[in-house]
Amino acid sequence: MSTSQPLLQVRGLTVGYGRRLGRSSPVVRGIDLDVQRGEVLAIVGESGSGKSTAVRGIAQLLPATAGTVRFDGQDLTSLSRRELRAKRRDLQMIFQDPYSSLDPAMRILDSVGEPLRVHTSMDARERRTTVVEMLQAVGLREEHADRYPQEFSGGQRQRIAIARALILRPQLLIADEAVSALDVSTQNQVLRLLEDLIAELGIACLFITHDLGVVRDIADRVAVMYLGTVVEVGPTDEVFARPQHPYTQALLSAALIADPVVQRQRRRTKLEGDLPDPTNPPAGCLFHTRCPLVVDRCRTEVPLQRRSGGADVACHLVEPDPDADHDPADPETQETSA
Ligand SMILES: Nc1ncnc2c1ncn2[C@@H]1O[C@H](COP(=O)(O)OP(=O)(O)O)[C@@H](O)[C@H]1O
Ligand SMILES: [Mg+2]
Repeated sequence: MSTSQPLLQVRGLTVGYGRRLGRSSPVVRGIDLDVQRGEVLAIVGESGSGKSTAVRGIAQLLPATAGTVRFDGQDLTSLSRRELRAKRRDLQMIFQDPYSSLDPAMRILDSVGEPLRVHTSMDARERRTTVVEMLQAVGLREEHADRYPQEFSGGQRQRIAIARALILRPQLLIADEAVSALDVSTQNQVLRLLEDLIAELGIACLFITHDLGVVRDIADRVAVMYLGTVVEVGPTDEVFARPQHPYTQALLSAALIADPVVQRQRRRTKLEGDLPDPTNPPAGCLFHTRCPLVVDRCRTEVPLQRRSGGADVACHLVEPDPDADHDPADPETQETSA
């Protein structure tokens, strides 16, 4: 049983901000996510839907107020700081702004080599060799090791951040809008590099982006977030070909995707209004205030995730598969299986 365990298994993760550690204002509400070893899971959803908060909660950069984050067999939320530090070598993160991981006062050699210094017993010479190899793997050269972050372009800095994140060959890389700040052609280059490296090293990736074209290119599965919840999650091909949640349909129909199949399948669902205040969400289905298909039930009853087609969808209007006998998010089926 343990061999089929996902690398990352998030259950009921709730994260918020504020002095009371989110108790008063969660912006991520009890999400469930799985990432298998070597898999790329994209998280999409409009700005403010809680994507960054969710992955920061997963990486333990923000405290969870509820839920568990099982990573490689251990619940990260229950680890001591020391244990967590040891786990970090297997769970690395890159951000939109590489300055958040690159100290401007440190040479590239020291920034990229820092994880080696913290987590391995390599001496300075071995570290230099390993850093130079990694720099070459991300398309940079040996002499770059002795320079400082501000001497590089944005695209090069992101390559350096990638080198640093991957130098210990982590099991999971979390990339939060990692290329969003770059110009389009640089984005493509850095994305291709990232895609090649994680495939080559067999690293699983939790990939946040607002670019649905990129999702289609690189993600095995995609999770759609709305107002701090996962409304639909499934294989990328499946979700793009047959989006089931009205929010997913709206998101896809808003995107310009040069794909005749997606174009054809696309329903004309237009998203009206703004995202509600996540600290004061609507009752019932969180999407009901903007949903073009809303019915009475949506205003009062929270929809549970149900298996439909290849995806898990949280919408009252979606017919669950007749053979969907076990829904991990459904407390009723959990009781019977316990
Ligand atoms: N540091 C913070 N303090 C308080 N609220 C925050 C903070 N960061 C984000 N938020 C709020 O949390 C919600 C989710 O934000 P975020 O996780 O950044 O969404 P996304 O990454 O999907 O754009 C938003 O309403 C945002 O305003
Ligand atoms: Mg974000």
